[in-house]
Parts: sequence; structure tokens; C-alpha cells
Amino acid sequence: MTLWLIVPAAGRGTRMQADRPKQYLSLEGRSVLARTLERLHLAFPEAVLRLCLDPEDVHFDPDEVPFARWQRVDGGGERADSVRRGLTSLAEEAADDDWVLVHDAARPCVPLADLTALREALEDEAIGALLAAPAADTMKRADARGRVSHTEPRDGLWHALTPQAFRFDLLRQALDAALATGASITDEASAIEAMGLAPRLIHGSRDNLKITRPEDLAMASRILTLQRAGIDIANDTPSDQEIEA
Ligand code: CTP
Ligand code: MG
Repeated sequence: MTLWLIVPAAGRGTRMQADRPKQYLSLEGRSVLARTLERLHLAFPEAVLRLCLDPEDVHFDPDEVPFARWQRVDGGGERADSVRRGLTSLAEEAADDDWVLVHDAARPCVPLADLTALREALEDEAIGALLAAPAADTMKRADARGRVSHTEPRDGLWHALTPQAFRFDLLRQALDAALATGASITDEASAIEAMGLAPRLIHGSRDNLKITRPEDLAMASRILTLQRAGIDIANDTPSDQEIEA
């Protein structure tokens, strides 16, 4: 059974306000994209990669791809369109029940242990799973004036991270259906949920930051330094804890 990896890296990084898309900013001497691919390759060396890139990308360097088998795919207008194109590109080769892992190019700090935990969870999983972290802050619902309408109960609230892993055919159907409704789909799991299915939550580290705003690059660099020293920051619950959705 082939393990497929889709890495959406076709975004423009508008919130980052840099001179190039954030996946090409330097993180400790190498691009964010190179670091992300390196982590994935460490965990899944045999996987086959589809890398979704902006067709007009002028920054990409194929020497930064560590996988033996990989292919570049044109990304689309939104993240979900890019992932959908990645799926389309493997339709000829993938079996319906092959696992497809989708991981944001902008998450270079995903811990190896989390990638391994996700893969292990798939061994007895029918639907699919995602890395996620329990919400730690008190959650406020805003009103139209920017004041607190009320406090949302935090119990059972999780931050959805990536990778997210689903069976090829199920994910393709789910994304097709979701994109057809015009709903805004920001992760794979929400498309699966819209089909009435419940993906499994795998407790992951909050180290797995998505570089989004300018200050995140320095934070990612700190996380990498602490990871090299063997310290898992910001994790207040055991990382091997797995919760059924
Ligand atoms: N992505 C993509 N295709 C798009 C939009 C996003 O492949 N049309 C990718 C990004 O490159 C990123 C991941 O999806 O790796 C998560 O998206 P996000 O963090 O929103 O990145 P950007 O869209 O680049 O940033 P912004 O929303 O600030 O413009
Ligand atoms: Mg975006």
C-alpha cells in the first residue's frame, strides 16, 4: 500500500507581509519548505509526494525535495483547491483505500513523534485522523461591536493541525462535495465531517505552529532550537494521549 503525501505550498502568504511567500523565507539557514519536507521525509521516507506550487512560483528549488518519488502539481485559488489538484494528480495510481496525508508547507516544526503517532493511529482506523491540540485559553465570542458577547466553554475544543490523513477515495469525494457547495473549507477534516463522519483526533504538540504572521518566524526558530535540545515547549498534557472524536 502506497503512502501518499500532499503538501499544499501554493499560497501567497499575505498575512506574513514578506517579500516572498512564507514557505520560501529562511528559517535557520534553510527555507521553511525545505525544513517541512525534511521532517516529513524523516518520518515517512518511502512516501510518494505531491507538492502543490503556484504555477508562477520563481522561488522553488527542486534540490530541496528529499523524496525519491515526487511530482510538482499546480496549486489552485484556495488551499482546498490546491489539495484537490494534488488528489487529482494521483488518481491514476492511488488505490481507493490508500492513505493520503496532507500537511501544510507552513508547518516546519511538526515533531517527529507526532508524525509517528498519527501513522500508528491509522493502523486500526477506518475513516482517518488529524493532529490536534486542546484549546488552552479561555474562549470569547465577540459581538458586532468587538465586545464580549459571552464566554464559550473550552471543554472539548481543539485546534486542528496537520497532517490530516484520510483514505484517498473518501477524501476525494468529500472535497468534491464540499467544493461544490461553495463552502469555505480550511482543512480536510471539515470536508469529511460534512459527510457525517467523525475523524479521530490525535493529540499533537503545540510546537506544530503554522507560520502565519511576521512574529511566527522567530517563534518557529525558537521551537527548532528547543526541539534540538529535546524540550517540548507549551505542552501541558501528555503527548501520547489520544482522544476519540
Ligand atoms: N496554500 C495552497 N494554495 C492556496 C493557499 C494556500 O497550497 N491557494 C497552502 C499554503 O502555501 C500553506 C497552507 O496552504 O502552506 C496553509 O495556508 P495559509 O497558512 O493560509 O497560507 P497562505 O494562504 O500562503 O497565507 P495567507 O492566508 O496569509 O495568504
Ligand atoms: Mg491562506
